[in-house]
Amino acid sequence: MNLKLRVWRQRNALSEGGLVEYEARNLNPNMSFLEMLDVVNEELIQRGKDPIAFDSDCREGICGSCGCVINGEPHGPESRVATCQTYLRSFKEGDTVVIEAFRAKAFPLIKDLVVDRSAFDRIIQAGGYISVATGSAPPANAMPVPKHRAEMAMDAAQCIGCGACVAVCKNASAMLFVAAKVSHLNLLPQGEPEKDSRALSLVRQMDAEGFGNCTVTGACEVACPKGISLNFIAKMNHDYAVALLKGEPAHAGRAG
Ligand code: SF4
Ligand code: FES
Repeated sequence: MNLKLRVWRQRNALSEGGLVEYEARNLNPNMSFLEMLDVVNEELIQRGKDPIAFDSDCREGICGSCGCVINGEPHGPESRVATCQTYLRSFKEGDTVVIEAFRAKAFPLIKDLVVDRSAFDRIIQAGGYISVATGSAPPANAMPVPKHRAEMAMDAAQCIGCGACVAVCKNASAMLFVAAKVSHLNLLPQGEPEKDSRALSLVRQMDAEGFGNCTVTGACEVACPKGISLNFIAKMNHDYAVALLKGEPAHAGRAG
C-alpha cells in the first residue's frame, strides 16, 4: 500500500518546525507504524537526508518509549494500543497521515517526534517506590493481599509512562499517570508505610514540573493504551486529601 505522510520536522526546541510531506510507497499492510517510519528513514538516509527522529524501544507496548500524535490522536486510531502496536492495516490505501510529537510544556521537544519526558522520571523519583528492608526474600504468604486490591494494583501498574494522557489533555494534565503510580503502590500492604508522603510528594512534583490541572474531561482514559481508569484519579484525590488532613509527614515532599 501507499501512504502520504505529513511529518513534523524540527531540528531542536529553539528552531522553527513544520510539517514535511513524504510519499511512503510499497508498504506491507501488516507492517507496524514504526516499521513504516524505518522504511521512510532508510530511503532518506540513502538520499543523504536527515532521517526522522522518533522514540522506540521494546516495540511491544511495554516500555512506554514510543509515542506520536497520529492524525490528531496520541498513539493513533486504534484504542488500547501504543504507537508501536499500530499497524498499517488501520489505514486505507492512499490515506494522508499527519504525524506529530506529543506536545506539552512539561515535555519539551528534543527533535522531530522526540520529546523529553524526564518530568515523569522525576515524579517517580519523588516517591514512586517502596522502602524495603534488604535481606532474604520474605515467605510468599507472609503478607496476604485481598484479591480485589491486588487486581486494582495490577490495573494501575499497567501504566507504561508513555505520556499520551498528557498529550491528549487540553490542560496537559498528568493526573492519570500520577494517579496510576500513586495507586499501584498505595493499594498494597508494601506501599502502606509511605502512603501519605507518596501522595503528597508525587502531586507536588507533578505541579512543580508544570503539568496542568485536571478538569475531568476523560480524554486521558480514552487515549491511554493501557486503559487506566479515571477512577484512579478519584482515588488519588482521596489519598491526597487524607494525607493533608493527617498533617504532612516529616519526609513528605522530598524530590528526587
Ligand atoms: S496513564 Fe496511560 S496514557 Fe498516561 S502515561 Fe500511563 S499508560 Fe500512558
Ligand atoms: S516502543 Fe515500547 S511501548 Fe512502544
